Amino acid sequence: MNRSNRHLLSMTDLDRADIEQLLTLTESFAEVGERPIPKVPALRGKTIAWLFYEDSTRTRLSFETAAKRLSADTMNFSVSSSAANKGESLRDTVETIAAMGIDGIVVRHRSAGAPHRITDWVDASVINAGDGWHQHPTQALLDLYTAREHLGDLDGKHIAIVGDVKHSRVARSNALGFAEMGAKVTLVGPRTLMPPSLVGWPVEVTHDLDEVIDDLDICYLLRMQLERQKDAVVPTLREFHTEYGLGVARADRLGGDALIMHPGPMNRGVEIAGSVADRPNAVVTEQVTNGVAIRMAVLFLLLGSGLDVVDDQRAVA
Ligand code: NCD
Repeated sequence: MNRSNRHLLSMTDLDRADIEQLLTLTESFAEVGERPIPKVPALRGKTIAWLFYEDSTRTRLSFETAAKRLSADTMNFSVSSSAANKGESLRDTVETIAAMGIDGIVVRHRSAGAPHRITDWVDASVINAGDGWHQHPTQALLDLYTAREHLGDLDGKHIAIVGDVKHSRVARSNALGFAEMGAKVTLVGPRTLMPPSLVGWPVEVTHDLDEVIDDLDICYLLRMQLERQKDAVVPTLREFHTEYGLGVARADRLGGDALIMHPGPMNRGVEIAGSVADRPNAVVTEQVTNGVAIRMAVLFLLLGSGLDVVDDQRAVA
């Protein structure tokens, strides 16, 4: 990781060496997760606050589990029952929490760039757990880890990221992450669900899933972000499923080793057929499991005692 950088805001913060380092560290933490008592003292005495302005189940639980396994103390800021509902600004909320003494703050916010703003107001490390349509870096990291566990080196592998790319921070983070690791990234979806501009994105684009399906190593389905869509972007969900969903016939065309991935929560019958989601090459629950280890690695690297990961790892083991 960029050692002068105490925050993880975007996949653009990480180059290939940083990602490699995080994935390697994650292997040790995955091993911790398999122990009878899956807990290490690595972050004892550190305090991490959760600041979730958007609904979240898996990401929040995953970060909480990661922090507990590292023996950190946590502070739970519940937006729905908080001063934010009484009109307090983000800045005042953040400064109030920081005044209690925190080392890290994990933020999810509906506005792109909110975690970045917070870095101006606090000394703590800021970790972006999803900001608007912008970025969700720990999701991309756990996806890279899961893909690499199955496929080995990702250089030259072909991933299609399919569906509602326009509204998806997961698509933006994963496109950057997989491209950085040398994979070929193809975005697939109707024009209405593509970002207005793809200038500078390290990707190819197609509007026809059948054009690429036989060639894929990973078929990555995105959730239809119905809560973010203002216009009628697809005629009907049934038609979307026919055109862009991973139904049985398309899933049968994937190569034998190809993976089916989804960040969750899945809309069965929309972006993915229910029975396809339950196939052995659909690794959705593995993604969730690996999410905890990835977040342990991120928290450890940003908040841990030293910069020498190897030595710190020995201390952890
Ligand atoms: C994603 C998110 O919230 O960005 N989900 C997640 O983190 N588990 C994707 C989504 O909601 O579709």
